[in-house]
Amino acid sequence: MHYVTVIGSGNVGANTAFFIAEKGITDVALYDIRDGIATGKGLDMMEAAPIRKYRNRIWPAKTLDVIADTETVILTAGKVRSPGMKREDLFEENRSIVAELAPEIARLAPDARILIATEPVDLITTEFARLCGLDRSRIMGIGGCLDVTRLRYFASRELGLSPENISATVIGRHSDAMIAILRYCSVSGLPLTSLLSEEQQNKIVEQTRRAGDLIVGMAQRASAFYAPSAAIADLVDAIHMD
Ligand code: 2OP
Repeated sequence: MHYVTVIGSGNVGANTAFFIAEKGITDVALYDIRDGIATGKGLDMMEAAPIRKYRNRIWPAKTLDVIADTETVILTAGKVRSPGMKREDLFEENRSIVAELAPEIARLAPDARILIATEPVDLITTEFARLCGLDRSRIMGIGGCLDVTRLRYFASRELGLSPENISATVIGRHSDAMIAILRYCSVSGLPLTSLLSEEQQNKIVEQTRRAGDLIVGMAQRASAFYAPSAAIADLVDAIHMD
């Protein structure tokens, strides 16, 4: 049986499981240290299957041993920001969660790929790689994919065009230090730089940089989770389609 495992069943973990199932990529085991949460959310999502028409299963895992047979481990566990917090403010607390999980994941799933969404994602990914001792090429943070989908959306809004025709490239840390490479962004092959004024280009880059802060500031109780979950599911899809 093929499946991925999502560790952490909060907003990002649960929506990731849902998007993976809806896209028909693979089955998902959902794990959370808090008793019952993965079971409850997994059941809720499966009850939507007859209407949403997905055939993949989302099932709760009682223990972390589930990752022994998984192809990809998706790490979403950890605290999220409250308004006014920087991503780096979460490092110490989330680092201790990752420090506990890293050796367990390395022991149980030494051949799996590991996708990391826990914030601050680049620091946590680096720390995870250091602590688990696994091949670094199989350990990925999801920040770049998230920044790319945001830039594509802001460009589509500026142009009044469908976002699916827009491709974008963003590198660097998932923070306001990210780097959008606009000369590698295009709309059906046309360079974005030839379609937007310099002012518009600066605007969409700034919107992408500030997107996470804006959402946590407005939503107050939750940081962004739909776009982060979509970015993870997209990465899982790319991996599983090889
Ligand atoms: C973001 O919204 C959650 O940091 C993440 O950018």
